[in-house]
Amino acid sequence: MSKINSFEEYKTEYKRSVEHPELFWAEQAETFVWQKKWDEVLNWNFKEPKIEWFVNGKLNITENCLDRHLPERANQIAYYWEPNSPDEKAVEHTYQQLQEQVCKFANVLKNNGAKKGDRVCIYMPMVPELAIALLACARIGAVHSVVFGGFSASALSGRIQDCDCKIVVTTDGAYRGAKDIPIKDIVDEALEICPAVEKVIVVQRTDTFIKMLEGRDVLWVDEMEKVNADCPAEPMDAEDLLFILYTSGSTGKPKGVVHTCGGYMVYTHYTFQNVFQYRDKEVYWCTADIGWITGHSYIVYAPLLAGASSVMYEGIPTYPDAGRFWKIIDKYKVNIFYTAPTAIRALESAGEHFIKPYKLNSLRVLGSVGEPINEEAWNWYNQNIGKGKCPIVDTWWQTETGGMLISPLAGITKTKPSFATLPLPGVQPVIVDEKGNEIEGNGVEGNLCIKFPWPSMLRTTYGDHERCYQNYFATYPNLYFTGDGCKRDEDGYYRITGRVDDVMNVSGHRIGTAEVESAINMHIDIVESAVVAYPHDIKGQGIYAYVICTNHNKNHESLRMEILAEVTKMIGAIAKPDKIQVVNGLPKTRSGKIMRRILRKIAEGETSNLGDISTLIDPSVVEEIKNGAL
Ligand code: WT7
Repeated sequence: MSKINSFEEYKTEYKRSVEHPELFWAEQAETFVWQKKWDEVLNWNFKEPKIEWFVNGKLNITENCLDRHLPERANQIAYYWEPNSPDEKAVEHTYQQLQEQVCKFANVLKNNGAKKGDRVCIYMPMVPELAIALLACARIGAVHSVVFGGFSASALSGRIQDCDCKIVVTTDGAYRGAKDIPIKDIVDEALEICPAVEKVIVVQRTDTFIKMLEGRDVLWVDEMEKVNADCPAEPMDAEDLLFILYTSGSTGKPKGVVHTCGGYMVYTHYTFQNVFQYRDKEVYWCTADIGWITGHSYIVYAPLLAGASSVMYEGIPTYPDAGRFWKIIDKYKVNIFYTAPTAIRALESAGEHFIKPYKLNSLRVLGSVGEPINEEAWNWYNQNIGKGKCPIVDTWWQTETGGMLISPLAGITKTKPSFATLPLPGVQPVIVDEKGNEIEGNGVEGNLCIKFPWPSMLRTTYGDHERCYQNYFATYPNLYFTGDGCKRDEDGYYRITGRVDDVMNVSGHRIGTAEVESAINMHIDIVESAVVAYPHDIKGQGIYAYVICTNHNKNHESLRMEILAEVTKMIGAIAKPDKIQVVNGLPKTRSGKIMRRILRKIAEGETSNLGDISTLIDPSVVEEIKNGAL
């Protein structure tokens, strides 16, 4: 895997990657173990879309993550697992141990009926078995669909049904901070409407009492006793599915983003190596949850492909106190630390005395991901955590992109607070205006698109290719549309300004306004609602809901509590509105479209400058909403 060592080299590599993308990516791909070499590097069009990388190549990503490292790294730690409670014993997995566990669990999956191509749902907290379960699926060619442990039974069942999972891997419970979460109970509830699920494999984490359904539910420990660690890696076509990961879009129904084996492997490893400038033997820690793409790509696959040693942490940043992250950094002498702006802001607000007891002198590189990082938080991170000595890589990417697309290379690209800076090799961003015309030159602003495929881009949305086309490729012909707005400054640096569609980013969690609205509308007294995001000091964005309630005698506080319960039930606690305003009407155009622009402005606290409201059917609702704003 080639590593860029200077900014000059970045420029030449970037140029080469644009002028000769096939040659460039073939060179990177050659550094992996392939069971059969590809016939053609790239075959694509954005019209269908069709994207194929390393056509007819055969590989198994787990051979590249695990087996090929064994001669050199058998006894090197792959994961340092740090439990939620600092009083509980930490667990280490060497590459050898991880390889064995993965092969054993792959055999367990087979014994429980999984074959190549079958979908396996994984719904678990951050325990080592989670990483093992993903890799075991990949080992036998089963397609994993991980559902973040914070989603509700209803959200979980929707995702299980959408891709027709026949196996669910889960735990009895989860420790998150001071809370114990009844994970298995949530699974049981979800499965009441998922008759296709044949087996549930349960890891015992909290040892709480759970119901085991005879014939369906089995324990991880029991199953692992029945198998050995011999499991040949299934030969996978480069374009066979590796995983599905659901993410929110503009409609109420989450999309199953599909990633395939070959391109994803090559690109995630390439970006890990170059963005973090990972050096052999360094300790790397990404604080994301494996339930999101950041965890898939940069806790599981890329670090293992690179033969890295990673920390995996079960808990939350503020447990038992807001010094926990810093304590863990010192404990494991973490060199590369990758986290989210929302965590940075929360820990900043907790106060500097939580940092003081720790040295943090092992740190070499800091990363940020998931949402725009404001200048204030960037500077705080730089001074207080990096002590002014660690480059910050602000990595912009998405579930759909599989890996980082716009980011500094640590220590190589000159950084600028709140800028993701420059495209990585192979990435060709363009900024377009509303009509889709490319805006060239520097000092410009518009919608961010990508005009050429990169190896880890999404291939489809599961079960609905047309939706993939409509969502990402129809807005601007021949371009992949990211849904983000962005600026390109005088230096050609990119600054992502946030979503321009109906997707919110709350504490780095991606939530659709339509999803929250449909959950709120489940409430018996609510006839209609409109949800928008507004700037929030810690979360980045907060959720503001305008609701029309038919029951005029309803007490506001009980309505609020019931709405929160409804959203928690339909989606999960992460989607609870921060503010709920009861209104008599919503600002609508003659065609019935809600003018969210106005609602967004009011939620932001803007009362004048609402723009043209003359096209509304009833402009007086705006006055009323303004007067009642929270
Ligand atoms: C959206 C994608 C990237 C993996 C985690 C989130 C926003 C992400 C940045 C960044 C500004 C960012 C974008 C993007 N975003 N990283 N460094 N600067 N915005 O993946 O849940 O698919 O969300 O997160 O708006 O479209 P995701």
